[in-house]
Amino acid sequence: MQTLTLTTVAGLAAAGLLTGCGSLGRPAGTPTDTPPPTATFTPRVLTWEDLALTPPMGWNSWNHFGCSINETLLRETADAMVASGMQAAGYQYINIDDCWMAAERNADGSLSPDPAKFPGGMKLLADYVHGKGLKLGIYLDRGTETCSHFPGSYGHEVQDADTIASWGIDYLKYDNCSPAPGSSMVTDYIRMSDALKATGRPIVFSMCSWGFPGSWVTTQKIAHLWRTTSDIKDTWESIMKIMDANSVPAAFAGPGHWNDPDMLEVGNGGMTDTEYRSHFTMWALMAAPLIAGNDLREMSRATIEILTAPEVIAVNQDPLGNQGTLVGKIEGTTKPEVWAKILAGENARAVALLNRSDRTAEIRVQWLDLGLPEGPATIRDLWLRADLGTFPSGYTASVPSHGVVLLRVATAVGNIPTVTPAA
Ligand code: GLA
Repeated sequence: MQTLTLTTVAGLAAAGLLTGCGSLGRPAGTPTDTPPPTATFTPRVLTWEDLALTPPMGWNSWNHFGCSINETLLRETADAMVASGMQAAGYQYINIDDCWMAAERNADGSLSPDPAKFPGGMKLLADYVHGKGLKLGIYLDRGTETCSHFPGSYGHEVQDADTIASWGIDYLKYDNCSPAPGSSMVTDYIRMSDALKATGRPIVFSMCSWGFPGSWVTTQKIAHLWRTTSDIKDTWESIMKIMDANSVPAAFAGPGHWNDPDMLEVGNGGMTDTEYRSHFTMWALMAAPLIAGNDLREMSRATIEILTAPEVIAVNQDPLGNQGTLVGKIEGTTKPEVWAKILAGENARAVALLNRSDRTAEIRVQWLDLGLPEGPATIRDLWLRADLGTFPSGYTASVPSHGVVLLRVATAVGNIPTVTPAA
């Protein structure tokens, strides 16, 4: 069977492949508007969830730069994403956060960028980013003002969605500040989701909801990701707190829709490289969006190695889309934790042995705790990128304080696992 690969929504429209509910684009015009497909291939309709079948990977300006952003920074960041090897490792979104707008809307109600920060305008910037094979994201807010007091999108949803689509934006982070009096979070987010879908442009929708919003976000296909917590900080305590909170709605993650424990702090200077490795590992294991939040133009070798670790990223991007969870914890001074993520294929798990304590700990994982059948399993260390051998019933590692060991554990194909992935 032949497959059709169409890269633009215009192409889809021309081929008459845009459909109604759940697909992208305004309803088609009269039947004579679009010629019928003539080839014998089976057309593939681009659906909403296809835009994030695995957790999005990219960069966002907020964690490192706050409001100190401009066009030069954005261009240099796109350059650095390519030069550092991050693009080759899977990162593709360059996301502008708050503070990009002019202080007031235009006379016709539309938004424009601050002319001092973005003199070339967003369309030109999008062209530049697209020219590198990357995608451009932007930030809006569901209320009357953004969190940094720029114009909010309440009552302007369709106009703002059309504006960012016309600039060539590929990803929208939609924040939660300054709700309009009497407004509802559910209605506001659905309104923007509908407005984005109606533009016909594929735009990933990231809800910055500061808490799991409810099952409606997945059942009604409202967003591709939603923030499950308040803002991350560049400290070990913050990372651990957010990780625990993000685990509660784990069952709601899957291809096309992800829990978002906030952007990464790797490389921002507040933690050790061991802690950053744990932060990145746990975000990968939780199938979290991997949105770097550091200055990509000035990265240490260790930071680059963490952000581009191929086998850790492969765990994050595993097509099954399972969110890893805590499977074993022994209370006590060393607080060892065993976390596991079900991987695509038979009887394979990614396993993190996480040491939250302030001293080195021996952490053991038993295959039975992973829902794997009894019997030997082969294991690979995904940071060392080395096979460790075959072990009969479990494995013990010595893990430094605030460190992690990440393993791939697989038993023989054909054995029946005792747990199945969450729906
Ligand atoms: C909120 C969000 C942050 C960031 C800021 C910008 O606090 O949660 O991620 O976008 O607003 O003002």
